[in-house]
Amino acid sequence: MINQETKDLIEKIKSDMQFEMSEKRFKHSISVMEMCLKLAKCHNLDENEAALAGLTHDIAKEIPDEIAYKMLDEEGLQLDEIEKKTHSLIHQKVGAIVVKNKYGLSENIQKAIMYHTCTSPDMNDLGKVLFLADKIADGREGDYPLIEEYRETAKRNLDEAIIMILDNNIKYLIDKEKTIHPNAVLTRNKLIEDRSNWFFVAQTFVAQTFVAQTSGLRKVCGRSA
Ligand SMILES: [Fe+2]
Ligand SMILES: [Fe+2]
Repeated sequence: MINQETKDLIEKIKSDMQFEMSEKRFKHSISVMEMCLKLAKCHNLDENEAALAGLTHDIAKEIPDEIAYKMLDEEGLQLDEIEKKTHSLIHQKVGAIVVKNKYGLSENIQKAIMYHTCTSPDMNDLGKVLFLADKIADGREGDYPLIEEYRETAKRNLDEAIIMILDNNIKYLIDKEKTIHPNAVLTRNKLIEDRSNWFFVAQTFVAQTFVAQTSGLRKVCGRSA
């Protein structure tokens, strides 16, 4: 449930954004906010943070480069080599600065915005929701042929949906002979490792339960192991 304070802040940010960005990007921001809210509800996460992260995630995308670089400089933030060469990646870190300085949004939101394009193995659940919402929101149908599959998976399991998207993005970048940000590979590896650990824990649990039940059955039947 979104509280009144967040509702007021959302209205304030929306009215600022309408003047500061193109209509297309504004609409995309609203769609991502709505998808963030849906995913937050599915996964029992804070809806206030999810809505604000979704709404503001591209807030810096239309800031001119010279201003963006000045802001990064003032905050002591560095771009990595790939971010420097890939224009579309600059707005992540600058967006995190804008939401902190202009609206005082939480560190959790800043971090989610900072990694919403190239991901990070340290992404928290809010970061995962934002990354996914940006890809599966209304209006993205033309960009992702498998969007319905992504949407269904994201409702059930955030990590599985991110693995699917990263796999397909990485394959696409290889086919196009384009650079892959190392974070995409590191994030994928981390999620795959986490999944293996879960399988191991689940298998162990099932095996232990089976042994316990079998030994109980033996006792009931008057037989020893
Ligand atoms: Fe973005
Ligand atoms: Fe976006």
